[in-house]
Amino acid sequence: MTIHLRPLAAPDLRTLQNWFSDVETAKRLGGMLPLEAWFANTKDAPNHKSQLATDGNLAIGMTTVETYDDNSAGVSILINPKQRNRGHGKRVVAEALKQLPNGTAVHAYIDADNPHSAALFAALGFRRNGIDPDGLTDFVYIK
Ligand SMILES: CC(C)(COP(=O)(O)OP(=O)(O)OC[C@H]1O[C@@H](n2cnc3c(N)ncnc32)[C@H](O)[C@@H]1OP(=O)(O)O)[C@@H](O)C(=O)NCCC(=O)NCCS
Repeated sequence: MTIHLRPLAAPDLRTLQNWFSDVETAKRLGGMLPLEAWFANTKDAPNHKSQLATDGNLAIGMTTVETYDDNSAGVSILINPKQRNRGHGKRVVAEALKQLPNGTAVHAYIDADNPHSAALFAALGFRRNGIDPDGLTDFVYIK
């Protein structure tokens, strides 16, 4: 298996829409809805990079990385509901991390009741760094 990341494109929104019919996806990432507006607002933003992860013709997931002027970044991850629990989440985030400069402080903000995501980031070396103002657990990794 080879995971490949490429920029998210408008036709991919149909794939994402399908993934958002999954209750867990909508619960965790519902702030991206409606997807068309989210995509229009983010696709050309200079600090925003959403990428589709593929393995051959199969869409595995999507990752978003936002970078900031202070050498920090925020990362989020979504895996195709039919492809979960196979290590893809870890693989896709690891690929996204490769694209960031060394020294970047990479944050992931995770719901307190999302142990699956917490385990994913912990397995990649992210460490708990407190609770953010929205009540999300801040996990950080210094690349
Ligand atoms: C969270 C999500 C990305 C995980 O993707 P995935 O491909 O299933 O994750 P992985 O297979 O790489 O597993 C990651 C870790 O979670 C662990 N895990 C699996 N199910 C778990 C559960 N219910 N509770 C705790 N840990 C769990 C795995 O064992 C693995 O840890 P390990 O390496 O220590 O064994 C996926 O479920 C998803 O897209 N959820 C909806 C969106 C979301 O919550 N995104 C996170 C917001 S940043």
